Amino acid sequence: LDTQYSLMVHGGAGALDHLKSAKDQVRYLESIRVILEYGRDILSRCGSALEAVESCASLLEDEPLFNAGCGSVLNEDGKVEMDAAIMDGRDLSAGSVAGVHNIANPILLARLVMARSEHVMLIGEGAMRFAEHCGMERVPDQYFFTEERIKQFNEAHAKGDIVLDHDDVVAHFEDGQKYGTIGAIARDVYGNLAAATSTGGIVNKRMGRVGDSPIIGAGVFADNETCAVSATGYGEDFLRTVLSKTVADVIEFQSYNADRAARHGIDYLVRKVKGRGGIIVIDQAGNCAGRFTTKKMIHGWIENGGDTVCTF
Ligand code: GLY
Repeated sequence: LDTQYSLMVHGGAGALDHLKSAKDQVRYLESIRVILEYGRDILSRCGSALEAVESCASLLEDEPLFNAGCGSVLNEDGKVEMDAAIMDGRDLSAGSVAGVHNIANPILLARLVMARSEHVMLIGEGAMRFAEHCGMERVPDQYFFTEERIKQFNEAHAKGDIVLDHDDVVAHFEDGQKYGTIGAIARDVYGNLAAATSTGGIVNKRMGRVGDSPIIGAGVFADNETCAVSATGYGEDFLRTVLSKTVADVIEFQSYNADRAARHGIDYLVRKVKGRGGIIVIDQAGNCAGRFTTKKMIHGWIENGGDTVCTF
């Protein structure tokens, strides 16, 4: 038994200009810290990396500050459509859902897809039917309609700020946390890695749009032999660069550590597609790394059982 465990979470990347006051910043950082401590409790009691990432991601989904679960942004029809995925680095088993609605915790549904279906990914009404089959409760629309999300949607709608082309997206990216996502990655005391990512996607996105978060290898990846990765940012860029798997590949083929692999991933993202966003990475030795192209990324970590660190 290797007694070291590591855990990282993120709550989205962007300019985060709405976090100017110290009070707001403390709210975000405190929320991340509490969730990391919850995960620490699981991992220090020899809980699995999978359990830790599922629990942390689900707590992040329950926090209206972040764009996932109850804090999800609204699509072009003013509705919530969420994507989530979870992956177990022990055997590369994975579960993923896209375009789901009226579900409080899409990450729990992704876990059920992994555990109780013979598939990796379910979308839309098929995913909803599976949720019902598993006895997952539906929550009403009001659960998601926070004042902040309605205001943000109305502003984006009024500006015609629909994702039409890459330049438009880049121009508006720094406006706020429009492209937020949540994620959790962990290494448990047995050396197992796991990753989870969940999101409401992009403000005013087209109905049916799916981002990188539920796509294995793009917004999420875990393999015990390399690393665990969770991404946040403009999903289309992470899809086109298969970014999470790209990070794992440099660890596998070039023996990079987490920090060097994360730097390589972000360089590749920028060089290839001028991508916007960030990633968190834990390698098989438990090293933690976070890199981003944006001004900020809300994230935190516990490296090899050490202190809890939270930062933008
Ligand atoms: N990264 C989240 C999304 O683009 O949907």
